[in-house]
This record gives sequence, structure tokens and C-alpha cells, in this order.
Amino acid sequence: MNRNGRNMKFEKLSKKESFPYEFLLLADPSKELVDKYLKQSDVFVAIQNGETVGVVVLFPITMVEAEIKNIAVKPALEGQGIGSYLIKNVIKTAKQRKYQKLSIGTANSSIGPLYLYQKHGFEITDIIKWFFINNYPEPIYEDGLQAKHMIILTKDLTK
Ligand SMILES: CC(C)(COP(=O)(O)OP(=O)(O)OC[C@H]1O[C@@H](n2cnc3c(N)ncnc32)[C@H](O)[C@@H]1OP(=O)(O)O)[C@@H](O)C(=O)NCCC(=O)NCCS
Repeated sequence: MNRNGRNMKFEKLSKKESFPYEFLLLADPSKELVDKYLKQSDVFVAIQNGETVGVVVLFPITMVEAEIKNIAVKPALEGQGIGSYLIKNVIKTAKQRKYQKLSIGTANSSIGPLYLYQKHGFEITDIIKWFFINNYPEPIYEDGLQAKHMIILTKDLTK
């Protein structure tokens, strides 16, 4: 159940199911980069009343560390707790899989995600300066703020 009171399910997509690119490209505009990490990742979806309303992608870095590569919610349903639902469930899954650390990278301009991840216990652990300038062909702006640096946040799953 999420904040809006409707029943939600968190499910892993089977390898046979097609990827929900309409969601994945909201969080990451480069299909090339998305396709690269999807090969080695598990994709989880939030289902509400039979409809996919969000997606989160878990990528193994090592035996003990995983990374959230992508998280996105159906635009019309933002702000209703689905992002928090996805984060909580992917943390739970990572713990069940015995990962000790879970990391996520976001832009300096992604104010909502920076809030959301810190609210769920992620701490800023690194900054990759000029990442978005050096790796994307077009400038990216969010709420009038240019995405320049990648902020890495990490959650200690052993606590
Ligand atoms: C980021 C995203 C997944 C959040 O999903 P969501 O369903 O809207 O999130 P929630 O409703 O669970 O909100 C979580 C919290 O963040 C807060 N929040 C959301 N956007 C915010 C903003 N711009 N500034 C401050 N707080 C914000 C909410 O108020 C809420 O706080 P609360 O739990 O204290 O009430 C969603 O906005 C999205 O898909 N964005 C586009 C894709 C994207 O940018 N992905 C992340 C790439 S790093």
C-alpha cells in the first residue's frame, strides 16, 4: 500500500518481458547507456491496479555492492509516494541478496531525487565533477539548473 492508499505490488520483470523504456528514459536520456546496464541488471516494477506505475533497476557492482541505475515514476502519478515505495522495496531486495552497500548517482540539479535518497538513509559519498558536461552531447537542465556534476550517494545496508 502506498501513500495514496491503493494496493501496490513490487515485481521483478522476467528476462522475457520487454523493458519499460517510456519510464527508463525519464531518468536517463541515453538509450545507449540504458541498454548497456540493462544487460546485467534486474528490473523491478511497481504495479497498481494492473498498471505499471514505476520502475527501478538494480545493478550488481561486486558481490557486496549494488547500484540503483535507474528509478522513475509515471509522470502523472509523481508526488504520491511511489518513488518512496520503489526505494524501500529495492533496499529490502538488496538486503535479502546480502549486499552490504547500495549506491546511486544523480545530478547536482536533481533536487527531488537528492531529497528522496537522503530521506531513505543514503549519504553523499562522492562527486564526479563535470560528469554530465563530459558524457552527454546536449546540455541538460532541470528547473532551470544545469546538470553538471554527478553526486554519488551510498547506503550502508549492514546497519
Ligand atoms: C524522482 C522520482 C522517482 C520520485 O518519485 P515520486 O513518486 O514523485 O516520489 P515520492 O512521491 O515518493 O516523493 C518522495 C519525497 O520526495 C519529495 N520530493 C519530490 N520532488 C521534490 C522536489 N523537487 N523537491 C523537494 N522534495 C521533493 C516529496 O515531497 C516526498 O517527500 P515526503 O516523503 O517527505 O513527503 C520521480 O519524480 C521521477 O520519476 N522523476 C523522473 C525520473 C528521475 O529523475 N529519476 C531519478 C534519476 S536520478
